[in-house]
Amino acid sequence: MKRVLVATAGGDCPGLNAVIRAIVKRASQEQDWEVIGSIQAFNGILWEPTEIKILDEAAVAGIHFQGGTIIETTNKGGPFAWPIKNNDGTWTTADRSEEMIRKLMYMGVDAVINIGGDGSQRISQALYEKGLNIIGVPKTIDNDLSATDTTFGFQTAVQIATESVDKLVTTAASHNRVLILEVMGRDAGWIGLNAAIAGGAEICLIPEIPYDINEVVAKINSRFVRDRGFIIVVMAEGAHAVGDDSSTINLDEVGYVNSKISGGASRLMRELKAAGLKHDMRKTVLGHIQRGGVPIAYDRVLATQFGVKAFELALEGKFGEMVSYRHPNIISVPFSEAIREPHFVTLDSDLMKSARGVGISFGD
Ligand code: F6P
Repeated sequence: MKRVLVATAGGDCPGLNAVIRAIVKRASQEQDWEVIGSIQAFNGILWEPTEIKILDEAAVAGIHFQGGTIIETTNKGGPFAWPIKNNDGTWTTADRSEEMIRKLMYMGVDAVINIGGDGSQRISQALYEKGLNIIGVPKTIDNDLSATDTTFGFQTAVQIATESVDKLVTTAASHNRVLILEVMGRDAGWIGLNAAIAGGAEICLIPEIPYDINEVVAKINSRFVRDRGFIIVVMAEGAHAVGDDSSTINLDEVGYVNSKISGGASRLMRELKAAGLKHDMRKTVLGHIQRGGVPIAYDRVLATQFGVKAFELALEGKFGEMVSYRHPNIISVPFSEAIREPHFVTLDSDLMKSARGVGISFGD
């Protein structure tokens, strides 16, 4: 019997379960393969006792439309930076990668499928270089991986953000207000840009285009005659003014590798007030609502294609590769290519031209 181990790593994302189900269903068509899941990314392997879940057809029945991941996830720590508490209460990290690879061999694992974003695929690459038979599946609601046309979960997040814009329009119009919607997007503004176009917002602020607060004020004022009017501003959480950085907070969570982006919309409200804006303002921070719940059909289809392809790579023994969508094909690319550069909103793209063409201001 051959064993493939599946891990879901990094922030959760609608469609993870559809990937897991597809891997299991495709594997069940082969005589001699079984699938197991490591709980909470690779923590399940590194914990004592080990925590894994047998992923047979019964375990994955009907999970394609469930949000989250049935094998849990984490965006902290990992085999190369395992958090360890010192005697004085401070924390340090240890490299446990070789111990983990030995343990996987002992468990009879022939192949590993790591479903995760850029940070997780960096871990995949490093494990591959150490000799692990590993395959990656790209996952991010931010859509910030360049080696694939898109990732599952992203369109679901855009849908949720767009529905939120639709809801904010009626209350903004009723109260003659400025309504700011903060959506996810640490470094890339894809969710914000798409939701602004789909929702008909007048202003879209993204990390790729630092805004001039006076331009934002001018656009807002242009939508009011005396005190009557309303406007919707969609901002990515990482958006910031010219000369500034994204708004962050310090987390005292052990093993958190990224600085936590937070407070962008509140800061924007303060900046608008300081720049002389007089209209009533409110903000909505959408947060993790964008990551939860049922994946839309598009994401279920893409996730299923990714899962089937990932298992087939394992079958072929094609390791060190990440599954990728290059319309209309599902292909694979080496990890080194997959993690080379992030996928930012390209400023001269047709999508940006369309957004500007319908009058959306980016505050520049
Ligand atoms: O990278 C995906 C993402 O959803 C970002 O958009 C966001 O900044 C971050 O994860 C939130 O992470 P956490 O779940 O740790 O709050």
